[in-house]
Amino acid sequence: MEMELEDIGNTPLLELATLSVNGNRVFSKCEYLNPSGSHKDRTYLNIINKLEKAGVLKPGMTLIDCSTGNGGAALAWIGRLKGYGVKIFMPEGMTEERKTQIRTYGADIVETPKESFLTGAVLQAKAYLSENSSEEFYYLDQSNSLLNKDSWRCCGKEIVKQLSAQNIVPDFFVCSIGTGGTFSGIAEVLKQTYSGIKTIALEVSNSAPLFAQRNNLAFNHRSHNLMGLGAGSFN
Ligand SMILES: Cc1ncc(COP(=O)(O)O)c(C=O)c1O
Repeated sequence: MEMELEDIGNTPLLELATLSVNGNRVFSKCEYLNPSGSHKDRTYLNIINKLEKAGVLKPGMTLIDCSTGNGGAALAWIGRLKGYGVKIFMPEGMTEERKTQIRTYGADIVETPKESFLTGAVLQAKAYLSENSSEEFYYLDQSNSLLNKDSWRCCGKEIVKQLSAQNIVPDFFVCSIGTGGTFSGIAEVLKQTYSGIKTIALEVSNSAPLFAQRNNLAFNHRSHNLMGLGAGSFN
């Protein structure tokens, strides 16, 4: 069945029975059920819709962003449905599945040096933009766009509704971070709703800029194989 933009979001919140022990209940929001297989569908649908409303995006433009694969696949899929070209700047060494998926959706991939990870991809995307007409290309910049976080308030509201239906008040919210958009948007809504909640962001140990900053440590990004996480910059 061909998926549509309306199929993004409204994912189930399922209890992880094997982790729910000693009266503690653990739930997981099944974001992999979004059409491209990634939570990033929500991010790019919101960013593009808002930029269209603001008159910033024009039909036929090529949308550019940097990604380790999941965001790239989501953007490639949404771009195709909405009639935009898509160019993804992506560090070398990411999974073949995501690269194939991105190309199948008709987007271009520019692979950038592995060593500099997403920072290198960003530099190359910016260099490309400075050499090409701003009329034709738009850099969505998921790492810095406040529209990224904004995309996630709606998911936070879904979680509140799903928990309320079961009379559950959560003690913790745990979410891994790449750009941090998913964590910060959902955490904001949950904190507004549940005064006692603790929100915990997970970083990859090989790339933990926030941990380093808080603990006054030198930050060194090292490579890791957790796609989408540990972006290796402070953003
Ligand atoms: C599997 C996975 N989890 C989490 C994240 C982090 O999302 P965010 O960039 O909103 O922090 C990503 C980012 O691409 C991802 O691919």
